Amino acid sequence: MSETARIILDGKEFEFPVVVGSEDEKAIDISKLRAQTGYITLDYGFKNTGSTQSSITYLDGENGILRYRGYSIEELAEKASFLEVAFLLIYGELPNEKQLNYFEDSITQHTLVHENMKRFFEAFPQGAHPMGMLSSMIASLSTFYPESQNPNRSVVDIEKTIHRLIAKLPTLAAQAYKHNMGHPVVFPSNDLGYCGNFLKMMFALPTEPYEVDPVVESALNKLLILHADHEQNCSASTVRIVGSSQANLYSSVSAGITALWGPLHGGANQAVIEMLEAIREDGGDLQKWIDKAKDKNDSFRLMGFGHRVYKNFDPRARIIKKAADDVLDKLGIDDPVLEIAKELEQVALNDEYFVQRGLYPNVDFYSGIIYRALNIPTDMFTVMFALGRLPGWIAQWKEMVENREPIGRPRQVYTGANVRSFVALNDRK
Ligand code: CMC
Repeated sequence: MSETARIILDGKEFEFPVVVGSEDEKAIDISKLRAQTGYITLDYGFKNTGSTQSSITYLDGENGILRYRGYSIEELAEKASFLEVAFLLIYGELPNEKQLNYFEDSITQHTLVHENMKRFFEAFPQGAHPMGMLSSMIASLSTFYPESQNPNRSVVDIEKTIHRLIAKLPTLAAQAYKHNMGHPVVFPSNDLGYCGNFLKMMFALPTEPYEVDPVVESALNKLLILHADHEQNCSASTVRIVGSSQANLYSSVSAGITALWGPLHGGANQAVIEMLEAIREDGGDLQKWIDKAKDKNDSFRLMGFGHRVYKNFDPRARIIKKAADDVLDKLGIDDPVLEIAKELEQVALNDEYFVQRGLYPNVDFYSGIIYRALNIPTDMFTVMFALGRLPGWIAQWKEMVENREPIGRPRQVYTGANVRSFVALNDRK
């Protein structure tokens, strides 16, 4: 027998269906609430609101479980390549050999960007934040491929857009970095894999030969997989809601990049390292910073701590913490900031304030330490997150389009002035 929820309003009882997901997650379907009762629900930050039914990513915040299409994040991070995971997220199944070869070849063939885009980069000031450059560049890709703007585009056109995005995002990200360095652009190399090619475009110089370090390549592969999707987070919801107006995929992803930039979302990885460095420069008094984070009159938060969904531990943080140790060990790097991070983690985990609120280190707490070890500058950290998250955004957008979801348009409870007459300028106080 299917369950229903009963709501009593103004003495009248209304019934609403209960929806149960494949992992027994339960929701009350209130899509007819306003039509039947005249009421809407109010839920700041959508903390209790499901915006869709999705088969992409399963996340159990209480038990620290994260799975893409049923596969555990631990197994994928250990055994898969990033492009395999991208295929899995976007198309629903792991690719067989032929499918993976085709996918990789197609992406390799689209890595170049139009030469005119060079002029966009030239117009940005040196030191421009790479996330600002990246979101502009991705939105502008739609102008080079106008067929992407047609909401009735063919499946073939959609496929091309998807492959172009995955292929060109690393090229544009590396070009943003080279722009800020004042170095010449390095063109993509078709003989390298996805991560190796990105590293070469970032770090190769015309003055010396460049060889991809397999330790660095494998660490990057893992980091990208760990970031590849996270169900209906701020940027994925942004991509879906922008795409729901039938805006093209490039623009929808560009909006996702902008949403990711904020320090409460993907921008936290940059903020974490800045915080750890500030603590070090300040003399390393951890308690002082913990007290600041607890002080409700101080806007400071412990960056890299807490999560909207994970309230016990973030499974990605566990994998990354171990990976950070491995990478630093293999590359022979002794980073004092890692020591501060470990001490801070211990102090916070034993503090009543953090324990009571379920505030644990999240994925961003340790990812910055690996990025530093890979020589990636701090303002590029969130760009690295965007590289990883791209397949997730694409999968979320594709699912929204295939489900023919309606345009996203929340309601509000109006609390402003009631109707009043216009007052002429001379008569105003
Ligand atoms: N430091 C100090 N206090 C905190 C922190 C923190 N990092 N995070 C939450 N709190 C407190 C908050 O003040 C509130 O206290 P009270 O109940 O006394 O008012 C309580 O914990 C609940 O916080 P909230 O803001 O209602 O929780 P939320 O679910 O809305 O926010 C969050 C989640 C991630 C935005 C928040 O924990 C935060 O700002 N963390 C720091 C930024 C960060 O690391 N973000 C990266 C998230 S992981 C990457 C990603 O997927 O985007």
